[in-house]
Amino acid sequence: MAEWSKAAARKSCYTTQVVSEVRILPLSAKLIDCSNAQIGVKFLENENLVPPLGVENCSMMKIVKSWADECRLLEKHVKQKATDGAPLQILEAGCGQNWPLDLKDVRFTLTGNDIDRGMLLLRKAKHNDLDEMIVGDLRFLNLEKHRYDVIYNSYVLEHIDGAEGVLENFSNWLKPGGLLILRIPDRNSVRGFVARNTPFWFHMFYVKYVLGFQDAGTTGVGPFRAFYDPVVSRGGIYEFCQKNRFIIKEEYGHGSHLESQGIRGVLIYLFVRTVSLLSLGKLAWDHTDITYVLEKE
Ligand SMILES: C[S@@+](CC[C@H](N)C(=O)[O-])C[C@H]1O[C@@H](n2cnc3c(N)ncnc32)[C@H](O)[C@@H]1O
Repeated sequence: MAEWSKAAARKSCYTTQVVSEVRILPLSAKLIDCSNAQIGVKFLENENLVPPLGVENCSMMKIVKSWADECRLLEKHVKQKATDGAPLQILEAGCGQNWPLDLKDVRFTLTGNDIDRGMLLLRKAKHNDLDEMIVGDLRFLNLEKHRYDVIYNSYVLEHIDGAEGVLENFSNWLKPGGLLILRIPDRNSVRGFVARNTPFWFHMFYVKYVLGFQDAGTTGVGPFRAFYDPVVSRGGIYEFCQKNRFIIKEEYGHGSHLESQGIRGVLIYLFVRTVSLLSLGKLAWDHTDITYVLEKE
């Protein structure tokens, strides 16, 4: 299986965890611990979101071929925001261990946030590439309004019970004209549907024995449960953009599940096409994950 599919499968198994201890850690980069902050969370009331602009979940979308191609596309958009003035302020929300974009010609300040303090410490130990670190739950953080030029949020929203509130926070924290880059699994793809409707032991089995991650289930390693709030879908993101005045600059899917060769590839293809057909086209077969570049008006 392609590295990309493995990485995506593994990411989709993380979940939120509560950090109760508040402590400033002795790190050279500034670490701000906001894990006890509590403000209201808004939830979507309508489960049956319909994508506006006539876009159905089953409609074909632009498919990006590889992780590397996707990164180059995202870098292009971020670079366009750079000016000769102050460095770009970038927030990597739910940052995990790796920053994937190559911005070597751009002056920028990178702030990493994660709910898991251990994750930030690991990031610091492995890469030491963050100018600032903020420990805290994205639902409850109270960051400065209009602070960031770019917010990058990759494979985090599906793990948050209250993801729409997080998107609204992003909208507040972005400057007008700022970019919100989202990477999410589509809850309304066949794969998203299967993930939402299968028990946890099945996810564990899949990650350990099908993908071959022997350390599955150990500390800090997936699979963990995901929530897949309704906003984690094409329709959900379209609705969010309409309500919060974001322009969709890019929307593209990943069809890496269709890259398998031989009998396995045929079986996967038949399975996703059949389930999609049985859902009367409501579940997309051509992609599993979606990436957005959204610009705040
Ligand atoms: C699947 S990992 C993705 C990591 C990284 N963004 C990437 O794409 O490789 C999900 C990350 O989101 C973090 N996370 C989950 N819920 C969060 C929340 N409510 N607030 C902040 N971070 C959260 C987890 O601790 C984990 O590091």
